[in-house]
Amino acid sequence: MKLPALKLPFAETSAKALPIRGFTAAAWSKDSRREPAATRSWAEAQSFAAKPGQVLLLPDASGKPRTVLAGLPEQPDLWSYAAIAAALPEGDYRLDFQPHDADDAALGWALASYRFDRYRKPSAKPLARLALPRAANKARVQAIYEAIALARDLITMPSNDLGPAELAAAAQAVAKRFKAQCRVIVGEQLLKQNYPLVHMVGRAAAAHRQPRLIDITWGNPKAPKVTLVGKGVCFDSGGLDIKPPSGMLMMKKDMGGAAIMLGLAQAIMALKLPIRLRLLIPAVENAISADAFRPGDVCKSRKGLTVEIGNTDAEGRLILADALAEADSETPEILLDAATLTGAARVALGPDLPALFSPDDALADALLAAGRVTNDPFWRLPLHSPYRDYLDSKVADINNAGDTPFAGSITAALFLRDFISNTKAWAHLDVYAWTARPRPGRPAGGEAMGLRALLHILERRYR
Ligand code: BES
Ligand code: MN
Ligand code: ZN
Repeated sequence: MKLPALKLPFAETSAKALPIRGFTAAAWSKDSRREPAATRSWAEAQSFAAKPGQVLLLPDASGKPRTVLAGLPEQPDLWSYAAIAAALPEGDYRLDFQPHDADDAALGWALASYRFDRYRKPSAKPLARLALPRAANKARVQAIYEAIALARDLITMPSNDLGPAELAAAAQAVAKRFKAQCRVIVGEQLLKQNYPLVHMVGRAAAAHRQPRLIDITWGNPKAPKVTLVGKGVCFDSGGLDIKPPSGMLMMKKDMGGAAIMLGLAQAIMALKLPIRLRLLIPAVENAISADAFRPGDVCKSRKGLTVEIGNTDAEGRLILADALAEADSETPEILLDAATLTGAARVALGPDLPALFSPDDALADALLAAGRVTNDPFWRLPLHSPYRDYLDSKVADINNAGDTPFAGSITAALFLRDFISNTKAWAHLDVYAWTARPRPGRPAGGEAMGLRALLHILERRYR
């Protein structure tokens, strides 16, 4: 599978770039008095009030644009710059002020150019280009942009073109680019190598869409170990406990956790963070066939715990259980997983706020703080142990679905917790991975929720 080469909308030089002057609405209403009369009346005629994302081109005597006025919120973030980039016509621009964060400004600008146009003629609209602010780190901005674009592309790609084999090929391509080691365990081999739950969930898929475990390692073996795990359900029909049409419609995005973690891994490798990175992605299709796993089945997991199937639609936690057990066997310094795990997390927090679960308060606090400074927020929910008995089974060590729908995202996280015994700093993110209401820089489609915040804590800790 080939993903298109990326060209970021940055100007070669700032020599001919139009300066952008940024104002908050309050600053504009106060300071515009000091502007020349022609500027003020032009702004008034165009109803320019420096509202966030509002732009106004000021002409020179010959009518050519000379300067840009742009509106910014009191607390600008990367999306503030995406809004400005999206509103401007083609041309070269430069910021005539110090942005709150030069990398964020450049990244936001770049993300305004992101499109998913694999399946139709690319838009011909030429882009506004930014001369990078002096303080911006171009390589870093490029790495983060590429990570986000990779995750978005994979999530938005339809399941007929992105099954477990194609997801593994994308991971292998990333590994090859950064000379990482990549091992993929496919089909029956999953049983021999003791990934029984990954095999069970994925075995009903067609022969060319067999389940697999993608296992990437990179970096100095002696460096601190950071392990990332992502749910890679390339399509979730619900299995035999089949989803209704409305619930199945979006389920091509059920590998969102895997895409986000693959993007994050790519950024970590591009930025050469001094860690020993491991990425584990169980990649399956939760399909229906004569060989599908059934409600009531019992399967022994990689860890040895037996799992009774209460609902075949609670498949994500099953494949994650085996991957997390393997991750935990090395006792990494940090273990992070991301998954489009439950509808219940969306009922609780809506689409834009991933639910964060962690038994480690210091890690949770660091993640929440990182979410705030990067504007890539989470909301913490509790691993409330008394709810663990919702998952009690009469025949096995644990059931994969609670006997009540209450606290569905908490019980899913509690299920995962039973498969981790050595690792102290574990965090689980239950993400939506999709933008339903588009905004500048964030078109409708897959979204790498949490990626920037996770990278931030790793850069903070290890850079
Ligand atoms: N992939 C779904 C969860 C999901 C649904 C995420 C909609 C985002 C939007 C997951 O595999 C699932 O089906 N979960 C069930 C669990 C239940 C059967 C215990 C759910 O949330 O209803
Ligand atoms: Mn499901
Ligand atoms: Zn699922």
